[in-house]
Amino acid sequence: MKNPQFHVKTFDELTLRELHSIYVMRALVFTVGQQITEQEPDDADLDCMHLFVKANDGCVIAYLRMFDLETVTDDSHEITPGAWTIGRVAVLPETRGTGLGKAIFAEGIRWISENTDAQRIEISAQQYLAGTLYAAAGFAQVGDVYLEAGIDHVHMVLEIER
Ligand SMILES: CC(C)(COP(=O)(O)OP(=O)(O)OC[C@H]1O[C@@H](n2cnc3c(N)ncnc32)[C@H](O)[C@@H]1OP(=O)(O)O)[C@@H](O)C(=O)NCCC(=O)NCCS
Repeated sequence: MKNPQFHVKTFDELTLRELHSIYVMRALVFTVGQQITEQEPDDADLDCMHLFVKANDGCVIAYLRMFDLETVTDDSHEITPGAWTIGRVAVLPETRGTGLGKAIFAEGIRWISENTDAQRIEISAQQYLAGTLYAAAGFAQVGDVYLEAGIDHVHMVLEIER
């Protein structure tokens, strides 16, 4: 997709249809697609910024959520002052391989850099993307591989230059 239009909203700003579409696509990608059986959705959704791209019919085709690790946690993250995180990075299967994942991830980094005072972004990354998508965005691996939700993960950090 060329020049995707990004939407960024708090939970309370989402329309009911946007929320439904986000939950449907996250369930499709993570529960059906990757057989992750950990709770989805979760309470962190209430305190996240939700970044997404919609198709012409209004369905969400690319998504990620961002939150301040100083005040919000989920199953993957501990309280970490000075850091924001990005999670639930997802593109619908039929839309993959066209640059949308890279574009929405770059937009998430840009949004956090310009709209928060975070010093760094810390992510719990699925290992298969560590050396590609996330390394290309400037993230560095910190520590060893660990198992999360039955999938190999690595902790990765991007220092924000101010
Ligand atoms: C990861 C995901 C969001 C990528 O979406 P996408 O739109 O296909 O990504 P792009 O086309 O922008 O590709 C961006 C880069 O991601 C990397 N990438 C994409 N799929 C990959 C794969 N299966 N294995 C390794 N790297 C991959 C590539 O480096 C690619 O860059 P390149 O084309 O220059 O080599 C999508 O495959 C997805 O939703 N996967 C399932 C959910 C998931 O794993 N989320 C991440 C949780 S940490």
